[in-house]
Amino acid sequence: MADQTTCFLILRFLALLLMSSLSTDAKILNITTDQFALLALKAHISYDPYHILTTNWSSSTSVCNWVGVTCGSRHHRVTALNLSNNGLVGTIPPHIGNLSFLVNLSISNNNFHGSLPNELSHLYRLELLHFRHNEFSGEIPSSLFNSTSSLQQIVLQDNQLWGSIPSSIFKMSTLKLISLAENKFSGPMPSIFFNMSSLQHIDLSNNTRSGTLPPEVGNLTMLIQLYLANNHFEGSLPPSLFKCKQLQYLSLWSNNFKGKLSPEIGNLTKLTFLSLPYNNCEGAIPSEIGNLHNLENFDLGINNFVGTIPLDIFNISTLQYFGLFGNHLLDTLPSVNQLEGSIPISFGGLVSLEVLDLVGNNLSREIPKSLEVLRYLKYLNVSYNKLRGEIPTKGLFVNFPAESFMSNDALCGVIRLNVPPCKEASLGPKKRLNIMIDVAAALEYLHLGYSTPIVYCDLKPSVVLLDGDKVGHVADFGIAKLLSDGISLTQTMTMATIGYMAPEYGYEGIVSTRGDVYSYGILLMETFTKKKPIADMFTGEMNLKRLVNESFSLSILEVIDANLLSNENDYVAMETCLSATMGLALHCCADFPKQRIDIKNVLVRLNKIKLKYLHDHGGR
Ligand SMILES: *[C@@H]1O[C@H](CO)[C@@H](O)[C@H](O)[C@H]1NC(C)=O
Ligand SMILES: *[C@@H]1O[C@H](CO)[C@@H](O)[C@H](O)[C@H]1NC(C)=O
Ligand SMILES: *[C@@H]1O[C@H](CO)[C@@H](O)[C@H](O)[C@H]1NC(C)=O
Ligand SMILES: *[C@@H]1O[C@H](CO)[C@@H](O)[C@H](O)[C@H]1NC(C)=O
Ligand SMILES: *[C@@H]1O[C@H](CO)[C@@H](O)[C@H](O)[C@H]1NC(C)=O
Ligand SMILES: *[C@@H]1O[C@H](CO)[C@@H](O)[C@H](O)[C@H]1NC(C)=O
Ligand SMILES: *[C@@H]1O[C@H](CO)[C@@H](O)[C@H](O)[C@H]1NC(C)=O
Ligand SMILES: *[C@@H]1O[C@H](CO)[C@@H](O)[C@H](O)[C@H]1NC(C)=O
Ligand SMILES: *[C@@H]1O[C@H](CO)[C@@H](O)[C@H](O)[C@H]1NC(C)=O
Ligand SMILES: *[C@@H]1O[C@H](CO)[C@@H](O)[C@H](O)[C@H]1NC(C)=O
Ligand SMILES: *[C@@H]1O[C@H](CO)[C@@H](O)[C@H](O)[C@H]1NC(C)=O
Ligand SMILES: *[C@@H]1O[C@H](CO)[C@@H](O)[C@H](O)[C@H]1NC(C)=O
Repeated sequence: MADQTTCFLILRFLALLLMSSLSTDAKILNITTDQFALLALKAHISYDPYHILTTNWSSSTSVCNWVGVTCGSRHHRVTALNLSNNGLVGTIPPHIGNLSFLVNLSISNNNFHGSLPNELSHLYRLELLHFRHNEFSGEIPSSLFNSTSSLQQIVLQDNQLWGSIPSSIFKMSTLKLISLAENKFSGPMPSIFFNMSSLQHIDLSNNTRSGTLPPEVGNLTMLIQLYLANNHFEGSLPPSLFKCKQLQYLSLWSNNFKGKLSPEIGNLTKLTFLSLPYNNCEGAIPSEIGNLHNLENFDLGINNFVGTIPLDIFNISTLQYFGLFGNHLLDTLPSVNQLEGSIPISFGGLVSLEVLDLVGNNLSREIPKSLEVLRYLKYLNVSYNKLRGEIPTKGLFVNFPAESFMSNDALCGVIRLNVPPCKEASLGPKKRLNIMIDVAAALEYLHLGYSTPIVYCDLKPSVVLLDGDKVGHVADFGIAKLLSDGISLTQTMTMATIGYMAPEYGYEGIVSTRGDVYSYGILLMETFTKKKPIADMFTGEMNLKRLVNESFSLSILEVIDANLLSNENDYVAMETCLSATMGLALHCCADFPKQRIDIKNVLVRLNKIKLKYLHDHGGR
């Protein structure tokens, strides 16, 4: 009895000791520490376009009243910091690790750069880390997950990160969402990653990840979204994937997946989105797809599927997008769908269908009259098949703008109804993209291909030469400049052309690789608008960059070269492509050099824009 009491007292003593040491901790780190950390963060912000922090984060008011800051009601420590969508440029100082009560940290949609500080790993209460769309580079700190025991969401999407995933993450049993999309991660994902059974949302899109999808993926029984698009994944889909019964989004397009699509796909009855284009899958389309009664988007384009379209698919009343397009561009795309046979007689079940894309297959016989029942159809493309008859238009396309394509003639291009066929084509968007990709590649070689960067200085249309195949080359490196310190070099006088030269060059004479990117951006605008940066049409303060910037919020199509539009039959794909291209051009032409994207990423993005355009546009 006495022993028990002693034991109890000792335990109590130890507990008190522990508590007092914790409260000592709390004394050392208090709201003053938080203020100090946030002021350090403010000091590391070099540009605050909306003056969010400059005016608001003042030492004269309590931290807890600062914009973007939330404090706990009990302990008065900072629990959430949300600086998303503020266009901030800067770096994250190590002091961030002192915000020891932080639960939510969101700085998405800014221009934070530099590396992720190791001190993030001190935030052991962290649940949400949202760093989407910034310019962070380097590797994920290896200790980042060592003490974070409650992390639920980590979003590093759209940065410049690379390297491996710290192994301590694999032990975390709280993680529900991870997005590493749009970075530079490469190599296989460790199999053990797919053993993290708490995961519900995985987005690894737009990296260069390779390797196979391991059987462990079947352990992810709570998985709702799996995005692996635009990587180098290979091999066949493991049968265990079809055990992930909660899956709603499965996006695997543009990889090297091969093999047959298992009939067990029909087990994933919650699927609403199934996207597999640009892979090497083969065999028949399993009729079990018909079991997917929630499917809205179904896309198997550009694969090696053969056989007929299973009739069961025509009963999916939720289906909005139905893409089985192949492609006629055999020289650039390796394979073409060959779905022989006829279009099924009855479309009655596809009551929600908005897009039907069957381009480039081997469909024959009459076009069925029953197409007329597709009341919501906005886009129909059955070109490059062997169909006969006419597209029935009665009742079809009640929505505007509606488009329908049908042509069996590969030479003539796609015929848009009511538009004269075979108009003389000027340089199309793809050619223009290709030219600008070539120019960016030449610049990348100059900027990064040598031990010291070389700056071009005077990029303008007259130095871009087109050869007989309309391939772009950058001429005359005589005006290029070597950069001694790799960043900038002050020149007294160098050649440059007004309209194309970066603002800092004009008033400070600073030559830099960022200046080339500016000129490149202007050139990109000119290529797609056919307008000179300083033309007679521009009066006063107006210039090409401003015009593009202003039209960007309305419709980009208003400033675009009319020749591009007159030959266009897919305005949606075109507008998406042009908006992305002009957005990239504006990013190149940011006023402050540090805000500009570097040429390597220009090249990456432009290639992605092209891929997306080709994809949206059925490869033309
Ligand atoms: C925070 O702690 C420091 C000592 O570590 C002390 O000087 C300061 O007054 C404390 N601030 C508040 C607001 O409690
Ligand atoms: C800072 O912003 C918050 C939230 O918008 C506002 O309540 C507060 O008054 C502002 N403080 C200052 C000093 O501007
Ligand atoms: C963190 O963010 C989540 C999601 O927005 C929210 O539900 C939660 O209340 C936030 N926590 C704090 C401490 O602000
Ligand atoms: C952060 O603020 C943005 C609005 O700027 C909001 O959309 C987002 O949900 C917030 N994030 C969290 C985690 O609360
Ligand atoms: C906070 O963090 C920084 C850098 O990690 C450090 O220099 C500083 O002493 C820390 N402590 C306090 C109380 O601010
Ligand atoms: C973090 O954890 C990993 C493995 O879990 C370990 O190798 C590493 O030493 C840890 N780092 C620190 C700073 O504790
Ligand atoms: C995944 O977990 C299973 C057991 O749950 C185990 O057999 C397997 O080895 C694990 N895979 C890896 C790569 O750790
Ligand atoms: C997860 O899947 C792997 C591979 O299929 C298997 O070895 C393991 O037993 C499964 N674990 C659980 C918990 O289901
Ligand atoms: C798919 O469903 C069938 C029938 O219910 C079942 O036999 C099969 O094991 C399931 N497959 C997977 C991978 O769960
Ligand atoms: C489609 O549904 C209709 C009515 O629900 C049914 O009669 C028909 O057999 C179904 N067709 C297929 C191919 O499943
Ligand atoms: C298309 O089908 C015809 C028979 O209908 C066949 O002769 C031809 O080889 C097929 N074309 C391709 C490209 O599969
Ligand atoms: C990946 O890139 C495509 C275009 O190439 C884009 O549409 C998509 O939004 C990107 N996905 C992510 C998650 O960044």
